[in-house]
Amino acid sequence: MTLLNRVRALPKGFVWGGATAAYQVEGSTKVDGKGKTMWDDYLKKQGRFAPDPASDFYNRYSEDIHLSKEYGLNAIRVSIAWTRIFPKGYGKPNQEGVAYYHRLFKECLDNGVEPYVSLHHFDSPATLFEDGDWLNRKNIDYFVDYARFCFKEFTEVTNWFTINELISLAYSQYIQGNFPPNHHFDVTSAIQAQHNELLAHARVVNLYKSLNLKGRIGLIHVLENVYPIVATPENQHAADLQYAFMNQFLLDGTFKGEYTPETMTLINELLDINNAKLEIQDGDLDELKKASTQNDFFGLNYYQSKFVKTYHGESENHFNGTGEKGTSSFKFKGVGETVKNPDVPTTDWDWNIYPEGLYDILKRITKEYPNIKTIYITENGLGYKDKFVNENTVIDDSPRIDYIEQHIEKILQARSEGVDVQGYFVWSLQDQFSWANGYNKRYGLFYVDFETQKRYIKKSAQWFKELADTMK
Ligand code: NOJ
Repeated sequence: MTLLNRVRALPKGFVWGGATAAYQVEGSTKVDGKGKTMWDDYLKKQGRFAPDPASDFYNRYSEDIHLSKEYGLNAIRVSIAWTRIFPKGYGKPNQEGVAYYHRLFKECLDNGVEPYVSLHHFDSPATLFEDGDWLNRKNIDYFVDYARFCFKEFTEVTNWFTINELISLAYSQYIQGNFPPNHHFDVTSAIQAQHNELLAHARVVNLYKSLNLKGRIGLIHVLENVYPIVATPENQHAADLQYAFMNQFLLDGTFKGEYTPETMTLINELLDINNAKLEIQDGDLDELKKASTQNDFFGLNYYQSKFVKTYHGESENHFNGTGEKGTSSFKFKGVGETVKNPDVPTTDWDWNIYPEGLYDILKRITKEYPNIKTIYITENGLGYKDKFVNENTVIDDSPRIDYIEQHIEKILQARSEGVDVQGYFVWSLQDQFSWANGYNKRYGLFYVDFETQKRYIKKSAQWFKELADTMK
């Protein structure tokens, strides 16, 4: 059966969406009372690229929502910038920020493009960041207050995600060092931040449920499968350690409400090698346990998988500091060395294109975590150096279409074997600002000319429309 025929057989409510994140699309970082995020001063100091105007979504959201509608999308992922609501992360709400999100959600709903809203997408308020970000437990209290405010204020929103990609944030901040505060190999902070973010998530889920609201809530993890490049017991062990640090610890905390002895054996091995430690306070696990059965859905971001071999040398920093290349060979002590698999194609940024990994992950997590109910693929897409030709030529991004098609195939295969995936969001809706690569790494279905802010159609948008329209 062709892909289109199989798509036709999907349930009517299947979600086809485009994904965005506040800081990557909105621009307007200094208007209407917005406070600074952890990125503003850092990017200015670094001087490589600026977060303004990004895709100017703050002013052009209506155009992007109309494009979404026209091209068959029935949903959009957006995030609320915490600093538009509370410029310092706490205190008095900023009414201009509140009004903006009401306008945005109204535009979505008026056009049949359902908003799926994250409360935190890599953009902690600068004030709280300077006080330790997620490592400071007081900031968890502020996050819960911010969430409570949003739940009560934005009653038109019925699909919530607490935090996006906890591991990417922790890893980039404290291991890889390409997100502020740019620490390298600080395994203690990386694992502690993961735990604290899980706690923040759990407290917000428990709060949401206690308010008896009519919507749904969950969180988003990016998952990467990890395979031994050659199947030896040593390589397998290195793969298991990496899988535990990148995925299993977070999945356990989210959907089991505990870190199982099997998981902790692996995590403790890594902590020991790196002289690192994790602190869990009394009551933390009770919060996690309570939340673990209450997630209404799970957002899964998938881009790539890794191949590793065991590594005996000292930890070594292969990262070249720009995020352009080499990030996939980055390693820290114990997790093995990430190596290139000659049979697997890669993107321009060395990311493995491996749709099988998505299938394997979907099968594995649904078997290991019965509390995972509905799954949405909340991000999947290809970073590509799209070439603009002229005003009248549709931009040819065929490699992106291939990438998306191969991954949707695997999702449908998993679905046919009982995995309850109910939606797919392509990363990204329109070209946008990339945290480590600025503006030359494009993901969008729609091309953005960052000078003029004009939108242009890519072939992938047309392909997506055909796919989504087959269900109408
Ligand atoms: C995951 C993140 O959620 C998003 O912010 C980022 O730009 C994409 N991956 C691409 O790296």
